[in-house]
Amino acid sequence: MAKKGERGRCVTGVEGLDNILGGGIPTSSIVLVAGACGTGKTSLGLEFLVRGVMAGEPGLLITTVEGPDKLLSNVPRFILSGSDLDEAAIKKLVAALAKQIAAHRIKRLVIDTIDTVLTEIKDDALDALLLGELSEVLFKNECTALLVSSSEKCERIEGRVADGIVMMGNLERKGDLLRTMQVVKMKGTSHSRSKYVVDLTDAGVLVTPLLKGGL
Ligand SMILES: Nc1ncnc2c1ncn2[C@@H]1O[C@H](COP(=O)(O)OP(=O)(O)O)[C@@H](O)[C@H]1O
Ligand SMILES: [Mg+2]
Repeated sequence: MAKKGERGRCVTGVEGLDNILGGGIPTSSIVLVAGACGTGKTSLGLEFLVRGVMAGEPGLLITTVEGPDKLLSNVPRFILSGSDLDEAAIKKLVAALAKQIAAHRIKRLVIDTIDTVLTEIKDDALDALLLGELSEVLFKNECTALLVSSSEKCERIEGRVADGIVMMGNLERKGDLLRTMQVVKMKGTSHSRSKYVVDLTDAGVLVTPLLKGGL
């Protein structure tokens, strides 16, 4: 846990990732988890939440794809709306999210995926508004967020308000398709930018260095 005045870390609980980051994600960051289908984004998000709960840090999952209706019953319905999101709608949805985060002392937020929201925001300035407002809410509540994306549209937010970018990918090696993870950017900490291998196991998400030999 962080001392007052020093930027703490959100220890993800995914050991390999915490090692890459020198102890975890700087608290209150918005981290984009980007990559193609099947690369393990959802698994990473869920593990992040589960490890948080195990460490006494409540989590909130906003999912557009998976999960029981119950998960959605307490969160704003914005993702399910069909219309374009304008400035007022964005402010409303962030306010609704802020209410949940504060009320439940949420320390870890996962939005899986952010693509639906981004599709409904037609204006880049509004992307910035959404992420800027979200960033403020996270900071106030010492909450760390993973925003999952499988869309190339996520490039729209990459260089902007995202504090961190974790790229998930596939790598073919000797006829096998390995899952990989690469921390491309993480404000507030030094980190390796190497590619790591991701194994999805019953014991969780394992992140190990990619053995360079035999490629
Ligand atoms: N514990 C596990 N062991 C082996 N494979 C798993 C495990 N958990 C998930 N998978 C597989 O990994 C695949 C990709 O995981 P997922 O996290 O859903 O990727 P993404 O969200 O990037 O599409 C899934 O299709 C699933 O079958
Ligand atoms: Mg997924």
